[in-house]
Amino acid sequence: MSEIPYKAFAHIPLAMFRQMRQNDPVHFEPRMRGWAVFRYADAMYVLSHPQLFSSEAILPGQPHLPSILGMDEPRHRKLRNIVSQVFTPRMIEQLTPQITAVVQQLLDKVIPRGRMDVIQDFAYPLPIIIIAGLLGVPAEDQAIFRSWSDSLTAANGSNDTPETRVSNAQSFQAYFLQKLAERRSQPQQDLMSRLLSAEVDGEKLSDEELLEFCRLLLIAGYETTANLLGNAFVCFDQYPEVVEELRQHPEFMPGAVEEILRCFPSVAGDNRVALEDLMLGDKQIQKHQTVSVMAISANYDEEQFPEPERFDIHRDPNRHITFGYGIHFCLGAPLARLEAKIALNIVLQRIQNIQRDPTRPVEPVQSPFIVGVRSFPITFTAT
Ligand code: HEM
Repeated sequence: MSEIPYKAFAHIPLAMFRQMRQNDPVHFEPRMRGWAVFRYADAMYVLSHPQLFSSEAILPGQPHLPSILGMDEPRHRKLRNIVSQVFTPRMIEQLTPQITAVVQQLLDKVIPRGRMDVIQDFAYPLPIIIIAGLLGVPAEDQAIFRSWSDSLTAANGSNDTPETRVSNAQSFQAYFLQKLAERRSQPQQDLMSRLLSAEVDGEKLSDEELLEFCRLLLIAGYETTANLLGNAFVCFDQYPEVVEELRQHPEFMPGAVEEILRCFPSVAGDNRVALEDLMLGDKQIQKHQTVSVMAISANYDEEQFPEPERFDIHRDPNRHITFGYGIHFCLGAPLARLEAKIALNIVLQRIQNIQRDPTRPVEPVQSPFIVGVRSFPITFTAT
């Protein structure tokens, strides 16, 4: 058996980001016909001025997604308010027993084998089961959700043809329209029922808006968290001393999760469109040009994070922008944080001698906007 060489996250171009922050922090990228913003301060400026930098896809020819992620005020706030109460840290904390039970069940399945692929067996199923429960769709359908999601985000190197994408989008619609119809006649205590009963400016949400909300919650809710969990295992592999420290001190796990989010952001950037001609740094941005906030570079800005390339679970403050910033700040951040804290603490309690399988390749997710791995096979022993 020969060893397949692998260095965790060697594919993140840290040196290039450093150079851009120094020499061309607001950079025009001709291929994208838009701007990329590399420094923390500029990134914060863009994200905290939604009246200048829109989230709506207002470029000619681009479809407008009626989900809150792609909406400006005032409608964004009204729609976000429908679900925001469900996602407060206090409400999310109440999911602790469910999350714990799912984590235990997933580990029960793999512990007798002494091996698992972290991504397939653990990182993907956990968030999908939890978000499916919140939305009110059966977790058994998780395989279908995953194929839709891969195809919708074209992440994970999905090889889907345009025809498959269209047919996936159609089956997603048919599935959720059916579930929504069931809820209309028999409301339950779930997010779908909440969306159905909500009124904005005296009107119910349209079918298109309802579908878009479900799609956003389903996709935003698990692809990202799955990558966070996967990235945590990659960090454990890279920093064994951190694993030992966390085993002794589970109370340090929230700090470790923040540092994983900072260094290996599962969402690497956020897109905006300039609403008027304006200056950013010393660059003239024109109305309707796109501006990509490179969160992944901002998170390594030495002006904000001393020794940014050092992985430090005790970093305080750690104001990374992996969950965005401002009015679109990730609604699911409390959920992602709680899932990661519970899952990783239980993993470290129940298994030890975690070793990456040196004979299997580790492939990064092929997307400039996602930091993650497509598979991460490990062996371990039960504690
Ligand atoms: C928005 C990242 C998990 C639901 C965002 C944004 C980022 C982000 C960067 C803002 C994008 C922008 O400003 O353009 C992440 C990361 C996650 C994660 C890194 C996990 C590690 C979740 C979860 C959910 C969720 C678990 C819940 C179901 C949302 C929603 C929005 C959002 C609904 C739109 C908020 C708005 O536009 O007001 N997320 N997310 N996310 N996220 Fe997350």
